[in-house]
Amino acid sequence: MPVQIILGAQWGDEGKGKVVDMLAQHADIVARYQGGANAGHTVCIGEKQYVLHLLPSGMFHEQCTCVIGNGVVIDPNALMDEIAQLEAAGITVHGRLLISHNAHLIMPYHKQLDVIREQTGTRIGTTGRGIGPAYIDKFMRVGIRIVDLLDRDTLARKLKQNIEEKNQILTKVYGETRIDVDAIISEYQEFDKQIDEYITDTSFYLHQALRQGKRIIAEGAQGALLDVDHGTYPFVTSSNPTSGGACTGLGIPPTSVSEVIGVAKAYCTRVGEGPFPTELDDATGERLRTVGHEFGATTGRPRRCGWYDAVAMQYSSHVNGIQKLVITKLDVLNEFETVRICIGYEFHGKRLRSFPTDVATLDHITPVYEEFEGWKRSLAGATTYEELPLQARTYLEALARHTDAPLWLASVGPRRDQSIVLPS
Ligand code: IMP
Repeated sequence: MPVQIILGAQWGDEGKGKVVDMLAQHADIVARYQGGANAGHTVCIGEKQYVLHLLPSGMFHEQCTCVIGNGVVIDPNALMDEIAQLEAAGITVHGRLLISHNAHLIMPYHKQLDVIREQTGTRIGTTGRGIGPAYIDKFMRVGIRIVDLLDRDTLARKLKQNIEEKNQILTKVYGETRIDVDAIISEYQEFDKQIDEYITDTSFYLHQALRQGKRIIAEGAQGALLDVDHGTYPFVTSSNPTSGGACTGLGIPPTSVSEVIGVAKAYCTRVGEGPFPTELDDATGERLRTVGHEFGATTGRPRRCGWYDAVAMQYSSHVNGIQKLVITKLDVLNEFETVRICIGYEFHGKRLRSFPTDVATLDHITPVYEEFEGWKRSLAGATTYEELPLQARTYLEALARHTDAPLWLASVGPRRDQSIVLPS
C-alpha cells in the first residue's frame, strides 16, 4: 500500500521537513494535507538551507510531483513568493506542482482578524497568518476556494459578500476602518493567470496514482498536540495535523495508508501559548534553546523548551497510530551531564493514567521524570546505531518504550546524511 503519512508528533517544529526530504528520494508524490503558511519546514541541502511554508518538502527531488491538498488554506501571495524563491534557486516548480481546486484561500481580512483577535480575545500566540479565520469561513460555508480564482465574476461576487460581513465585524465589534472591496477584488483577480496551471482535482489525481502503484508521502504540518480536535484546545491550530487529517485533507481513503511515521524531537518545544508540562523555565531550557537554535522558522519567535514528554507522546502515538518513530535533534543533548524523560504525571497527589487534553488539568500536573546519564560527546561521526554511545542508545530505547512506538530513525544533525536508520 503506497501512502506513507509523515506527521509531527509533538507541538510542531519536530524536523518533519528533513524526514520528508529524505524519504522523498524514493517517492513519486509528496502531498501536504493541512495548515497553511503558518508552517516552516526546513530542509538543508549541502550548505544551503531552505524554509518551505506552503510547498511540500518533496520539491527538492526532481522526480517528485508535489500536491497541495484540499485541507490546506492558501495565501496566494505567500504561494507565489515561495514559487518564485525556489525557481530563483534553480528548482523547477512549473509542471511539478498541483493544487487542489477545493483548497480554501486566505484573504487579507483573515490575517487582519487573526491579529485583532489575538489582541482582544484569548491569546493563542498564533502565527498571524490568518489560519484560524480562513478555516472559520470554510466551516461557516462562506469560504472562497482556489477554484474561484478562475472565474473573475464569481470571485468578485463572493468577495463582496464576505467583505460586507467582515466590514460589519471590523467596524462594529473592533472599531476598525472598512476594508476596500475593490482593491482586494482587483488584486485577487490577477491571480487567475498565475495560478491556473497548478489547479486541478488532486483527489482524482491521487486516486489514479494509487491505481498505478505510485509511492505517495502525505506530509503533515504543525503537530498532533496542536490538532484542533485532539490537541491542547484552545491552544491549538485550526486544522487536523493528526494522521486522520491526511485522508480528509487529500481525499484519499484510509485503506490506502500503509504507514504512519511520527516525528518527535529528543526533547520538547512549543511556540505560542498553552500548557507545556515539561517546560524548563531555567538555564537548562535556555541551553536547549541556544544549542538547538530553537527560534521559529516562520515568525522567528523563541521557542519554549523542555524535556521529552513520553506521556504526551504516548497519547500522540495512540491517536496517530505511529508505526515508526523518528527522533530528531538527538545531537542537541550531546553535552548534557544528564538527560530526562517525563514518564508520568501527578495530579493532586495521584498518578494520571492518560494524557489530559484539558488545559485546567494540564496546568496543574507535576511531571515525574526518569533521569539518564548523558553521553558527553559528539554524535557527528556515527553512521550506524551501534556507533552511537551506549548512553544515547539507552536514552533512545527508553524514550521509544515509554512512547509505545517502535523507534525507526534517529537524526543527529541537520544534513540529509546525518540520519541513522535502525535495523528493523
Ligand atoms: P495558527 O496556526 O497560526 O493559528 O497558530 C495556532 C498555534 O499553533 C500557535 O500556538 C502557533 O504558535 C502554533 N503553530 C502554528 N504553526 C506552527 C508550526 O508550524 N510550528 C509550531 N507551532 C505552530
